[in-house]
Formats: sequence, C-alpha cells, structure tokens
Amino acid sequence: MGKIIAVTNQKGGVGKTTTTVNLAASLAVADRKTLILDLDPQGNASSALGIDRASFAEKNVYHALTGQISMEKIIVPTEIDNLFVAPSNTDLAGAEIELVSAFARETKLKAALMDVKDKFDYIFIDSPPSLGLLTVNALTAADSFLVPLQCEYFALEGLSQLLTTVSLIKQSLNPRLEDEGIILTMFDSRNNLAHEVMKEVKTHFSDKVFETVIPRNVKLSECSSFGKPILLYDIDSKGSVAYLNLAKELINRSLAPNNEEIYQIDQQIDGDIQAQAENLIS
Ligand SMILES: Nc1ncnc2c1ncn2[C@@H]1O[C@H](COP(=O)(O)OP(=O)(O)O)[C@@H](O)[C@H]1O
Ligand SMILES: [Mg+2]
Repeated sequence: MGKIIAVTNQKGGVGKTTTTVNLAASLAVADRKTLILDLDPQGNASSALGIDRASFAEKNVYHALTGQISMEKIIVPTEIDNLFVAPSNTDLAGAEIELVSAFARETKLKAALMDVKDKFDYIFIDSPPSLGLLTVNALTAADSFLVPLQCEYFALEGLSQLLTTVSLIKQSLNPRLEDEGIILTMFDSRNNLAHEVMKEVKTHFSDKVFETVIPRNVKLSECSSFGKPILLYDIDSKGSVAYLNLAKELINRSLAPNNEEIYQIDQQIDGDIQAQAENLIS
C-alpha cells in the first residue's frame, strides 16, 4: 500500500518544491516507485521535472480534482525510472474557487487518488504556500505530513497556524494523519543564525526533526531551471548527497522497529541507493 506524504508549509520559498522533487527522485533511484503530485497552481514541481507544459494543458491535476478525468490518465513518466508526476499549471487556481461550493470539497483529492494509491510506494503532494482548500485537500488525502523549514529568521512563524490546521483536520476529516517530521533546509553552516534556528527547532520538536539537514547549495537552485532533479544535474553536489541521505533516513524511520534492524537496513539501503545512483549516471 503506497504512502501519501503531504509536503506542507504555508510560507513560500522554504524548500517545499525542492524537497518534494529531490527527495522523491532519491527514493525512485532507491527502487521505490514514486509519484509527485503537483498541487501548486504555480506548477514549479512540474517545471523542475522538465515536463513540457503544452503536453498537459488538457490533462492535469485540475481535471482530475474536478472529476473530468481519472488521476491515472494524467500521470506521466519523468527522466528517472520509477519517478512519475501528476502535473499542474494555473488551471488549478480555478479549482480552488470552483470547489468552494462543491459537495465534499475537502475530500476531492483523496477520492481522486484512491485508484492510484496502490500503484506506488510513495506519493508526495507538493502543496501551495497557503492553508486554503488545496492544502486542506492535501492533508485530508495524506497518511502523513512533512514540513520543510528554512533555517532563517521567523522559521517557526506560521508553524503554529499549520499545526492548528492539522489538528482540526485530524478531528474531523483525517483522524489518522501522522506527523512525518521537520526537514531543515537551506542551512548555511557559516551563518550563526542558522545554527541558532537549528538549535531552537530541535529543542521544540526533538526527534521529529530529521537528522539530515539540507545545506544551502547553488546546484539545488540551478537544477530546477534546467528541468532536472539534482541527481541528473550534479550527482556529486552537496545538495544531491543530502537528499539521498534524507531518502535513506525516511525509509529507515518507516521500517525500523529496533536499532539492530536500523543498522542492517541502513547498510542495505546504502548499497541500494548508491548503486542505483551510479547506474543512473554511468
Ligand atoms: N537547499 C537549497 N539551496 C539553495 N537554494 C535552494 C535550496 N532549496 C531551495 N532553494 C531555492 O529557493 C527557492 C525556493 O525554494 P522552493 O523549493 O521553490 O520553495 P517553496 O516550494 O517552499 O516555495 C527556489 O528558487 C529554490 O531553487
Ligand atoms: Mg513550491
């Protein structure tokens, strides 16, 4: 059964799309069949994966959400084996408005994903920078939510609002929604403030914070304008290594009931991911 993970933070520019694309790509090279569902009308995840805009003009997440076409029919492959995307463009902004008066408007995405859930190991939902109806749909469809936090001033600002929204959704629409954790992004080790933010976040959220920290890395910002995940753009970059490690940590967290097993799985995944990634570029 596939796991649906909503990548959320209502602040823009914190690394949601970069994390969605590169974590999903890293899981795909570790042999996990992975879908990225682009739920942002800006369509940044779709462009970061190099999907041709004209090709999905009539077949995108908007059409699936409004029931005009099945989700399965809009999913397209990417340059990476095992990595697929359900693309979006500005059409999706219309869905947010059209759905307001619709019956069961909060569960549209959940219903649309029902038929494809079993076909993937992971489904990542890249959410828009708001707590509107699209994000509510993401959190209602998801098994868990993952929060990228940028290591800078006001990192925690807005987080309590997100957590309030999450608890409201758990009370009614999705009682089984789990907290996947917090990922620190754009970490600059030379910046004292970044260290302060990291300390504060770890104090507040302890083991909910992923050990893998994503560094600020110019290759990560470049690769999306070339329509490529970092693995295909510069596999040796610090950004690429960080997202491969994050994928490993995510798999470990979900699998390992005790330390001994964590160690064994870690060894195995290490082999997996590195071998796959090397095959990919050779
Ligand atoms: N680790 C990083 N290092 C450098 N630039 C980054 C990093 N993560 C994201 N960026 C850049 O920061 C900007 C915002 O990131 P993005 O993932 O689009 O955030 P969001 O989806 O939350 O709005 C983008 O231009 C992206 O390329
Ligand atoms: Mg984004």
